[in-house]
Amino acid sequence: MSFRPRYTGLIERYRDRLPVPDDARIISLGEGDTPLIQLHNIPGLMGKEVELYVKYEGLNPTGSFKDRGMTMAVTKAVADGARAIICASTGNTSASAAAYAARAGIRAFVIIPDGKIAQGKLAQAMMEGAVVIQIRGNFDDGMRLVKQVAAESPVTIVNSINPYRLQGQKTVAFEIMDELGRAPDYHCLPVGNAGNITAHWIGYSEYACTGSKGVTGACTFCDGQCPFVGGGAVVGTRPKLAGYQASGAAPFLRGHMIDNPETVATAIRIGHPQSWDFAWKAKEESGGWFDECSDAEILAAQKLLAEKEGIFCEPASAISVAGAMRDIRSGRIPEDSCVVCTLTGHGLKDPDTAIAQSTAPVVKIEAELGQVKRAIHDHLV
Ligand code: F0G
Repeated sequence: MSFRPRYTGLIERYRDRLPVPDDARIISLGEGDTPLIQLHNIPGLMGKEVELYVKYEGLNPTGSFKDRGMTMAVTKAVADGARAIICASTGNTSASAAAYAARAGIRAFVIIPDGKIAQGKLAQAMMEGAVVIQIRGNFDDGMRLVKQVAAESPVTIVNSINPYRLQGQKTVAFEIMDELGRAPDYHCLPVGNAGNITAHWIGYSEYACTGSKGVTGACTFCDGQCPFVGGGAVVGTRPKLAGYQASGAAPFLRGHMIDNPETVATAIRIGHPQSWDFAWKAKEESGGWFDECSDAEILAAQKLLAEKEGIFCEPASAISVAGAMRDIRSGRIPEDSCVVCTLTGHGLKDPDTAIAQSTAPVVKIEAELGQVKRAIHDHLV
């Protein structure tokens, strides 16, 4: 029998590509190494030949991709002697910050929009001992307050404006490249505050810098700052990035910030994305696009993924598949492409939205054999 070495998180795995001081105490919960799952049923339903994968980031320790960035941000904060961290959040960042702060033995303050975050995320932040500050306002208000308070108080911001967050999150691209052995042709993902699309592009760009295929252009993103090359030449291929926003919260589609974002996908209910310029750059450099999906399309994709593939993600995550499906159907993403969608958060984060839209047959009966048999008979496919 052979043993696999114990996986101890993405910093240990990609240490040579991450700015971590040699003597830093690594704050990790074993994040990363998430499954890349090929969808077997949905392409057939569309009648299209595509190699379609989801990167199931909901299987990170706190149930979202935020953990990739948080292990880096909290490791760095602790190395710098921080006693407290702070973030504004639509839910997942707060759950992740709370967990990594607990692990590190420091305090987390999380500012969240009152009544507008999914129950699972709130439960996490509360259980993990964060100080939960609920504001009568939205994420964008929270972000403004976090920046103001951090300028005056001894707290480290762990939102994605903290560059260490993006450094951790870029590893998602490394994992995909390592597993596929090539870049996908298209990478589809949700866009809210726009940190993650930026991080994906940094990751793909850095990886391409180490590749060995034909030169395709200059990597302007790392500007030669990445650890591998002095010159910043892109020698491998990178995917086109497709960033999807909910129609009611789509500043990248409108071309300007918006003040009252609204969507059922509360994770991406953001009107003033912090990584605005970076995200435009990622879109332009990759030759990709932004597009929007309605709440109905988002929920339909969430349900389809669960019903047809057994994969349960939260609404914001499902927008990547909603958008990809539409673009595959229309031919904007051509047949025979290799496509990866990032499923950013687990479906259990938001049980209320799931149950509210479910049409699953729930059969209520007496605890009696005959009635159970009838229920089975009525629903055999
Ligand atoms: N998907 C999920 C599940 C998210 O929680 C977020 C962001 C996004 C997508 C968008 O990523 O902001 O990098 O463009 N959630 C943040 C939070 C804002 O506070 O948890 P982004």
